Amino acid sequence: MKFGYFDDAQREYVITRPDTPLPWINYLGCEAYFGLISNTAGGYSFYKDARLRRLTRYRYNNSPLDMGGRYLYIRDNNTGKYWSPTWMPTRVNLDEYECRHGQGYTSIASKFNGIKSSTRYFVPLGESLEIWQVTLTNESGSNVDLSLFSAIEFCLWDANDDATNFQRNYSIGQVEVVDEVIYHKTEYRERRDHFAYFACSEKLAGFDTIREDFLGAYRGWNEPAVVENGESCNSFANGWQPIGSHHVKVQLKAGEQRQIIFILGYQENPKDDKFDPPGSQIINKKSAKKALEKYLQPVNANKAFDELRDYWTMLLGKLQVTTPDEHTNRMVNIWNAYQCMVTFNMSRSASYFESGIGRGMGFRDSNQDLLGFVHMIPERARERILDLSATQLKNGGAFHQYQPLTKRGNNDVGSGFNDDPAWLVLGVSAYIKETGDWSILDELVQYENEPETETPLYEHLQRSIQYTLERLGPNNLPLIGRADWNDCLNLNCFSETPGQSFQTTTNKEGKVAESVFIAGLFVLACQEMEGLAEHYSESRQSTVETTFDLQPSAFYSNAASEMETTIWKAGWDGDWFRRAYDDFGHVLGSKENTEGQIFIEPQGICIMAGLGLDAAPSSGSGNAVKALDAVAEYLATPHGIMLQQPAFSQYYLHLGEISSYPPGYKENAGIFCHTNPWIMIAESLVGRGDQAFDYYTRINPSAREEISELHKCEPYVYAQMIAGKDAATHGEAKNSWLSGTAAWNYVAITQSILGIQPTLDGLEINPVIPSTWDGFSATRIYRGVTYHIRVTNPKHICKGVEKVIVNGKQIEGSLIRVDADAVTSEVNVEITMG
Ligand code: BGC
Ligand code: NOJ
Repeated sequence: MKFGYFDDAQREYVITRPDTPLPWINYLGCEAYFGLISNTAGGYSFYKDARLRRLTRYRYNNSPLDMGGRYLYIRDNNTGKYWSPTWMPTRVNLDEYECRHGQGYTSIASKFNGIKSSTRYFVPLGESLEIWQVTLTNESGSNVDLSLFSAIEFCLWDANDDATNFQRNYSIGQVEVVDEVIYHKTEYRERRDHFAYFACSEKLAGFDTIREDFLGAYRGWNEPAVVENGESCNSFANGWQPIGSHHVKVQLKAGEQRQIIFILGYQENPKDDKFDPPGSQIINKKSAKKALEKYLQPVNANKAFDELRDYWTMLLGKLQVTTPDEHTNRMVNIWNAYQCMVTFNMSRSASYFESGIGRGMGFRDSNQDLLGFVHMIPERARERILDLSATQLKNGGAFHQYQPLTKRGNNDVGSGFNDDPAWLVLGVSAYIKETGDWSILDELVQYENEPETETPLYEHLQRSIQYTLERLGPNNLPLIGRADWNDCLNLNCFSETPGQSFQTTTNKEGKVAESVFIAGLFVLACQEMEGLAEHYSESRQSTVETTFDLQPSAFYSNAASEMETTIWKAGWDGDWFRRAYDDFGHVLGSKENTEGQIFIEPQGICIMAGLGLDAAPSSGSGNAVKALDAVAEYLATPHGIMLQQPAFSQYYLHLGEISSYPPGYKENAGIFCHTNPWIMIAESLVGRGDQAFDYYTRINPSAREEISELHKCEPYVYAQMIAGKDAATHGEAKNSWLSGTAAWNYVAITQSILGIQPTLDGLEINPVIPSTWDGFSATRIYRGVTYHIRVTNPKHICKGVEKVIVNGKQIEGSLIRVDADAVTSEVNVEITMG
């Protein structure tokens, strides 16, 4: 069953009924000011940091679902009847309803008793504010006398404190109201130099800033007393819960239309210019004035909206494809790319499953997120890489997370996730492959944000590799530390205390438990380093003394091949790659186990690192295919590939959080979508395009739209997890939006299946597609050059390039070198498979 449809021409998903199985959300803003918005206008806004600069309040895990938002109420003053044009919170049955989610904006339109309303929410580029453009049209056939009320609830900035420290917070709320603008200034009198404002383009009939005056005692947002009475209280908040509500009277003749604009914004003032007049306690409002005057004018708001649309046309234009599959086209061209931007911006901080309080920017997460984003705005990926690496520890390890506002490593979450450093190598390498900007390796970057610890970024990468080399266990495999990619495989944790965090509690020394996954990742990272090392020794600009010798690229190829030998010795189980060795030295992910016999992660990462692909029998030839066949046999379901099998039926002290989940959910044999693309990439590497694409389609949200009642989450973005076959709700998705799933699926479909892959030397095109396809075409903007690519597949094979013609000239191989003569600003590439 569907709850809407894709409007690909508009790049929108259109929701046609408000009661979706879960709130289906979207994001506003793409730079510093952000908002979450659901299909019924629920959600909240924040500036840069969802925890520390929360503008509006939202109540997670509430009933009714989705409480707190950008609410509007329309009241017919003749009858007293009122409704919400976005359905929530009044839930009055609307005669028509439609929500359109686009890139960075959402429009919700409805009709009730002949009154049409349409509200467009978006954040103009370069601004710290959001615009709500409300258009009311009277189609009732007679004149109407309406009241329009707005309503938001302010958050007292630190969302965690706001939800817990009531003894203080009930006494500190402060507002100002001047003309049509409500200012929220809690704590501005002391150490804060920022405030929020909520403005309206129309003359007000009244306003409210005290929540209980607006709602009435013991009432909810569904039936505010003020709206019921049609009369604001003009209340001024002192403490308690400050809100912002405007009341506008709107008389509309039959057929008449009116636009009303609301603006919610965030503003900072210089410390010594906070008050006007100086010495008073009144906010200096000059700084907010310009933006208000501008965007309260419909022409300027419209212009800003058009600019936002153009911006996204430009970003998405970096790669557009036309394949025989509509789900592929709309995900690659629109939604998956868009989700990559959102995950890049948010990491795992704020969604309808992440409270915005608990988690900052993840080290491994951000390095992976940029894989799907770097081609859109490489400059921002560069900045992110430098921020991340500045939190790296001197020993090469990493803080697991940092706070976006301070950009400092987060001590509460700590370090010791032994896979973290290797992801930095992958992130940096992807950036250079996209841009050719080798200068990033010479950037001087601190460790742990400490002044005078700077070394070239390249040395950070060296230390990342060194970190693993210095932490090998009894089998010579890398020690796992707190966990590796799988946060929930906590082999050193041994937690017996309810509620204790598996991630942060003190671990055993951890000198035994080893990870085959990190071993595979290490091989992959060494291969990337090999490429970087070759070039860096020639191009190095930095004159800063480094602690680390510049090792030749052979150092990395040797390290990789030694680790490969170790994997074949201790990490291969006969039919698939093993997962780990626990603290007792027992193997996990092996036929020897009764539960957790086979895990997806090592199959994906080891094959991606090339293990089992080559022809020499001594090095495990054919083993990649064997492992992938085992994945198909034991892990694949129609809804995607499960993380492991058999699921853990009970809690195992020596395994940690992974066994804490009921079977079929999350890391305990859920379909953890992040890992599925690794298998797609591995299938591409062994040339099985049909299988790779089949896996791609199983978790493609657009291809799952028809089963929305089961899938439950948004059909336009990936979710982190789909319940596995052991779960009662097999096929049900959770944790939509913020997941490495976005970046990796984008990489798998664009670089492995469609095979358009940036390399250090140029664009390589080597598709591994379904045999049924006649071919496909693509436009890719790469290092300033537009490549028009046409692939034909006359023999209906999955893999194999017979002929590559670049601007009319045939080239050897499938790598189009950036320095090739044929590469001008527009390049036509004709590829014949065969
Ligand atoms: C979740 C993981 C997540 C981790 C982050 C765990 O509880 O199951 O998916 O990565 O928390 O801290
Ligand atoms: C979500 C985390 O954000 C990510 O870092 C981790 O790899 C997966 N969960 C798997 O545990």
